[in-house]
Amino acid sequence: MKKFGLILALSGFVALGLTGCGKPPSKPSGAIATGTTGPNGEILGPDGQPVAGVSDIPMEVSLASFKANLYEPLLEPYCASCHATTFVEADIEKAHLAFLSRAGFDKYAGIDQTLPVQKMKQAHNCWEGSTKTCVDTMTAQMNLWLKDLEANGYKPKPVVYPNATGDVMLATAAPITLTIPPEYAFGGVDKATLAAPFTMATDDVDGAIKSYATSAAGTARANNANVAQAITWNMDIKAPGDYFVWARVKTEADTGNEFFFRPNNGASTAFIAPVTGKDTWKWAQMFVVQNNNVTTNPFTFNVAAAGTIPVSIIFREATAKINQLVLTTKPDFNGDQFTRTFMDITVPLNVPGVTDAKIVATVWEQTVEEGKRSLGVKELKIVSPVPLHVKGIYPLINGIYSSNHGTYTLVDTVAGGPDATKQVISTGGSTASTWLADLTVDKLSFAFDVIEVAK
Ligand code: HEC
Repeated sequence: MKKFGLILALSGFVALGLTGCGKPPSKPSGAIATGTTGPNGEILGPDGQPVAGVSDIPMEVSLASFKANLYEPLLEPYCASCHATTFVEADIEKAHLAFLSRAGFDKYAGIDQTLPVQKMKQAHNCWEGSTKTCVDTMTAQMNLWLKDLEANGYKPKPVVYPNATGDVMLATAAPITLTIPPEYAFGGVDKATLAAPFTMATDDVDGAIKSYATSAAGTARANNANVAQAITWNMDIKAPGDYFVWARVKTEADTGNEFFFRPNNGASTAFIAPVTGKDTWKWAQMFVVQNNNVTTNPFTFNVAAAGTIPVSIIFREATAKINQLVLTTKPDFNGDQFTRTFMDITVPLNVPGVTDAKIVATVWEQTVEEGKRSLGVKELKIVSPVPLHVKGIYPLINGIYSSNHGTYTLVDTVAGGPDATKQVISTGGSTASTWLADLTVDKLSFAFDVIEVAK
């Protein structure tokens, strides 16, 4: 329903945008004659080849839609002065065929990859002041045309990629628990014991742990670091060392952003978090506090031996909210692994001579807004009994590759085999990428320039 409304709104906007604006380019001097008719009167594409892949197009529907959505509102007024021998022919049937050859629905990779939209992206004779308007308008009108074709049973033919796997529904992936490296000890407040004035709430947390501890506005502290007023965890410390302290907090004002931290039933130290604002959860590191001012020195405390130790967050200021506590020896803390809900999407591989090989994408849902849904991709893994040589990976969403889908085409590596630490595919550059995809309805597959048993 929403989508439909959006398209109507867009086409309304386009119609408005086009009336009364811009006169046709006046100089016909740029007229070009590529892609006219061949010796037998057949329509030739811009490459000089006859129009391909049109045999199953519902021609009448296509012609009418082309006329209404492209020819009359856009091509005639803005492109005819130079393209009157091809896709803006006075004979609209010829123009239609010529334009079909430019659309390239026989090797389709998304509307944004079609030649007319690409030309607009190159700011090719844009009739508006803004390239973006021309790109958006051409995209919207091309989409209207394609929608009409699809409504009449036509499907554009995707580019055929080498060594492609089958499709897997993204929605089949269940949430997974990441293996947290041993340098971390962590706990959500759901794993802690709360004492007054702390109370547990669940009304607004956006992460994987849906609860947080807070205290009622107006609560006064009896005396500094009253150890009875505590949230207490039993933290599982895997190795001795100096530990940094991080907490995921939400703090509305600097009158409500302070705790005390107390490791191992020892001394309590002030933990002053930054003010995050009333709508944002943030990972806050604990820094040394001097004269009630936060310094730039990270606070650390030493743990002499592996084992379980009690740690507590003690009440200091009312309304400060805390959702998770992490202790780590790693100076480059990354909270994502504690905050996001990750999923593994497993796609079986077809490698001659190898059974049970698969590629696993670990993803999280990044944006769920209508029209711009995306997945964050934490990593790709090859799970295989023997190491595989993998070169040029094309993640395909619904069979279509988009350059938005990552930098994995540059991969040339060996991954998989009995050693689990050799599974992750290294891109050599950035680790995470984004796929434009909707977890609930889209399908994932992969293609490879090369996938074979490593030699
Ligand atoms: C002032 C002349 C001029 C105007 C106006 C013009 N073009 Fe072009 N167009 C050219 C020339 C010259 C080329 C060949 C060079 C190139 O590819 O840029 C070309 C090439 C193209 C091509 C690739 C070759 C082909 O035959 O398909 C497309 C697609 C295209 N134009 C689309 C458009 C569209 C859509 C419009 C209207 C919004 C437009 N052009 C307006 C001059 C023009």
